[in-house]
Amino acid sequence: MALTIGVDVGGTKIASGVVDEEGRILESGVRNSPATSPEKIAVTIAEAVQELAARHDVEAVGIGAAGFIDETRSVVRFAPNLAWREEPLREKVADLVGLPVVVENDANAMAWGEYRFGAGRGESHVVCVTVGTGIGAGIVLDGALYRGRWGMGAEFGHMQAVPGGRPCGCGNRGCWERYASGSALLMDAVEYAEADPSTAPHLLRLGGSIEGVRGEHVTEAARLGDRASLAAFASLGGWIAQGLADMAAVLDPGRFIIGGGVSRAADLFVDTVRAEFAARLTGRGHRPLADIRVAELGAAAGVAGAADLARIR
Ligand code: BGC
Ligand code: NA
Ligand code: ZN
Repeated sequence: MALTIGVDVGGTKIASGVVDEEGRILESGVRNSPATSPEKIAVTIAEAVQELAARHDVEAVGIGAAGFIDETRSVVRFAPNLAWREEPLREKVADLVGLPVVVENDANAMAWGEYRFGAGRGESHVVCVTVGTGIGAGIVLDGALYRGRWGMGAEFGHMQAVPGGRPCGCGNRGCWERYASGSALLMDAVEYAEADPSTAPHLLRLGGSIEGVRGEHVTEAARLGDRASLAAFASLGGWIAQGLADMAAVLDPGRFIIGGGVSRAADLFVDTVRAEFAARLTGRGHRPLADIRVAELGAAAGVAGAADLARIR
């Protein structure tokens, strides 16, 4: 039985796991991400791998990383929300752990995990979006992961949604991820609460103050009925729907999957996404509607996907 290790590197956490051919995670770990130091990220990944490799007979390592990966799947060329610039991640980690390593975009890894083992099973054309700090996408067309010519395809988060809009970590303005992500959700809820504090009693209590408000508080306050937080979720749902409609215009997938940290609160926005997608899709009424599902594997999707990509490297 061939085992591989998958690692999912995000802005706050580094998740890892030993994965078998069926996508089952035999053992997993999670560490805080030293997101501002590329050097420390590589060392932390290597420690996570070594800990697991000491107890399991593994043949390779797949790393999902939130950034633009080169076509050889070795170098993180650029990361809008992390400190990586021309980072030779594969080489650094491979030198430390002595195993073959492949580096993949985090959303691509997650899409592959869901396609193989989760909500994407049984559908050959799948687009996955991961809603977290930013928004990422992974495209599976005819059963194959689509990477583009230089490895940097599927960066839908940086399609321009609002000309001259909110500044983005990529250097441009008005990118979709500035309106459809966990950080956008927080920004929107805070804006609504500032404009009218009477719409946000729970949010302000949970945060202690407007500056103390965090993403989880927005979810909790929405569940308690705060109008500011509910409005922020409605805005998120509308923006995600618009992005999916745009992707459908280009790619015509049979299924969309919504994953990432914010998908834990999917019950607060997925109905909006479905309704708004149907209302905005070009050619609506004359074409089938893609299915919109919530990711099944949760946080494990990136780990399982990266491990599987390492196996079939
Ligand atoms: C990055 C993508 C990444 C996504 C989700 C975006 O800002 O450009 O590479 O997949 O965030 O982490
Ligand atoms: Na991607
Ligand atoms: Zn951008």
